[in-house]
Amino acid sequence: MTAVLIRGAAPYGEEPLDLLLSGGVIVATGAAASTDPLAADAEIVDGAGLVVLPGLVDLHTHLREPGREDAETVASGSAAAALGGYTAVFAMPNTDPTADTAGVVEQVFRLGRDVGLVDVFPIGAVTVGRKGERLAELAAMATSAARVRVFSDDGDCVSDALLMRRALEYVKAFDGVIAQHAQEPRLTQGAQMHEGEVSARLGLTGWPAVAEEAIIARDCLLTDHVGSRLHVCHLSTAGSVEVVAAAKKRGTIVTAEVTPHHLLLTDERAVGYDPVFKVNPPLRTAADVAALRQALADGVIDIVATDHAPHASQDKETEWDNASPGMLGLQTALSVVIATMLQPGLLDWRGVARVMSEAPARIGGLTDHGRPVAVGEPANLVLIDPTASWTVSGDALASLSSNTPFEGMELPGRVVATYLRGRCTAAAGVPAGS
Ligand code: DOR
Ligand code: ZN
Repeated sequence: MTAVLIRGAAPYGEEPLDLLLSGGVIVATGAAASTDPLAADAEIVDGAGLVVLPGLVDLHTHLREPGREDAETVASGSAAAALGGYTAVFAMPNTDPTADTAGVVEQVFRLGRDVGLVDVFPIGAVTVGRKGERLAELAAMATSAARVRVFSDDGDCVSDALLMRRALEYVKAFDGVIAQHAQEPRLTQGAQMHEGEVSARLGLTGWPAVAEEAIIARDCLLTDHVGSRLHVCHLSTAGSVEVVAAAKKRGTIVTAEVTPHHLLLTDERAVGYDPVFKVNPPLRTAADVAALRQALADGVIDIVATDHAPHASQDKETEWDNASPGMLGLQTALSVVIATMLQPGLLDWRGVARVMSEAPARIGGLTDHGRPVAVGEPANLVLIDPTASWTVSGDALASLSSNTPFEGMELPGRVVATYLRGRCTAAAGVPAGS
């Protein structure tokens, strides 16, 4: 593989410099990059005006394979990820069969490796079949070729307190983390959207904020008791921010994520009963959105994770009550973060790198992703045009599904190219190999 010389791109939006990539790493920067012998026959990339960040890492992706290859595959999801600036994604286990054994997580891991556009790290289910009845073989998944470190029953909550305690205890042995989908099931029976003024007006059964907050509070206490590691998936309410802030203050080992859609959209979107806006947890109020943005800026919320949830049209384009919850996210996440966090001054580019690359890599136990843009580091990078904008079209996305809630919106910032170990995986809107 030839070396790549990126000329004049600005790491973290700071001083522009040259970057020489070879052998999967950044071998030289600045003046040393162009005088290096390897630069002589390098491919030259014009980085003028572009920002370079460490490749993005998504801790929460649904790739749907095995089982729902009509909605997404590891290949199509990997292409969407590379186009979105990601170099690593964690794949949720709510597949068919469930990723609750060494065999299934190894299958997903190998599929990801064979596609080669992004590193795919399977998340293992906490309970067998995600049924919430007995623990899955966590250690077998941890010691498998996929080396699973993150476990989740996402889509469903590990609502049984004893099972949650046991899971937290179990993963301590291999420094694993339990990623909880916080949703008290009895409080959300039949829920269709956020419980509040809009749900009352529309006559839809509400999903109260307390159903999320109560589980997070309980799990923080359990985590304290056990001395283990908890990660809270898609935190969506102002009250949840308060619960996590208080837990962190007293030393709980808890991290939290927010999705791009919860940073931008509110429950008012449900007014037209368009199921593209149905998601779990649901879109909340403007006050919740403001609290989530501030918490991400303050570090109470650690990361942005997409919860990329492709659904086939027959499951999504149906009446609201029967539509599957979930939204595409991989190709729009960076632009939504630019719009909601960077442009209003809540985060700078270093902050974007922290919440979309460094912190998710650390939580997921990755050592080769989320690293600094510096000599000797893995050449996992994304080049961004911060001045470009684009109009979202679900049909034009690489995903096999088209359920984007941002359809028709003009969003700022474009991914120009993504590099995985020095190899270009996407450029100018086209994934490598297509
Ligand atoms: O909206 C959601 N969709 N929330 C989840 O927790 C699961 C996900 C899915 O798998 O579609
Ligand atoms: Zn979830």
